[in-house]
Amino acid sequence: MKIAVTGKGGVGKTTFAATLARLYADEGKKVLAADVDPDANLGLALGFDEETLDSIIPISKMRKLVEERTGANSQNQFYTLNPKVDDIPDTYGKVCNGVKLLVLGTVETGGGGCVCPEHVMLKRIISNLVVHRDDVVIMDMEAGLEHLGRGTTESMDEFIVVIEPGARSVQTYKNVKRLAKDLGITQVKVVANKVRNAEDEEFIRAKIPAEDLLGMIHYNVEVMDADRQGKSPYDFSETVTSEIRKIKEKIDNENSL
Ligand SMILES: Nc1ncnc2c1ncn2[C@@H]1O[C@H](COP(=O)(O)OP(=O)(O)OP(=O)(O)O)[C@@H](O)[C@H]1O
Ligand SMILES: [Mg+2]
Repeated sequence: MKIAVTGKGGVGKTTFAATLARLYADEGKKVLAADVDPDANLGLALGFDEETLDSIIPISKMRKLVEERTGANSQNQFYTLNPKVDDIPDTYGKVCNGVKLLVLGTVETGGGGCVCPEHVMLKRIISNLVVHRDDVVIMDMEAGLEHLGRGTTESMDEFIVVIEPGARSVQTYKNVKRLAKDLGITQVKVVANKVRNAEDEEFIRAKIPAEDLLGMIHYNVEVMDADRQGKSPYDFSETVTSEIRKIKEKIDNENSL
């Protein structure tokens, strides 16, 4: 099962991705959670301690490794576009609560279609995770889809956009859907988070087609308490975890797991 979680800043991507990862791990599945956000904090939400997290360097910042694998020199000339990366998740991933975390980081693309070696490495790792790994793979990403390319996207089972009950979030969902279509992805699913009341629920149902809506997660102070203490929401909120469990069941059913 390969799941990419996207959405605009602060909507709850990391909260959702981490909880989903832990639910799969509870079932005894091998789970790999990839942090593809420049402001990497998936580890905390998975329950890692700060000391371990401080020791993790995002792959995008491992210049030596990138040079070694791509053959790039300091001027970024003459490097391979298909570096060996299949050992990277196991060598650089760290495990906690049954979930292996791989922090990839991101690379500034500057909008100019940068093909710097770091970018090549990350793309290659992502496509390797998605195409070749038979674990459950959950990616916590930014709103863009530029990390993904053809070949990778076809092997993705679910693109999930996390939204809040608000016009800007809905806009992001529409943008992702449009970008996804350009990449040949037809299925883009939505999880509505921070839903406060019946009006919010109504707003979501009015804006998101029923077949795209995987479920809703209600606004819950326990999630904020977990965050304040740098802990996993999974260990703090049974209510939110059970809402996410329902969403997971729907994902599993739709993918006939
Ligand atoms: N259901 C919820 N109820 C209350 N607070 C929530 C809920 N979901 C997430 N939050 C809070 O909202 C904030 C943002 O959540 P989170 O970090 O998961 O979002 P994100 O989309 O990953 O953000 P970023 O774009 O910065 O990576 C956190 O403080 C989190 O505790
Ligand atoms: Mg996040």
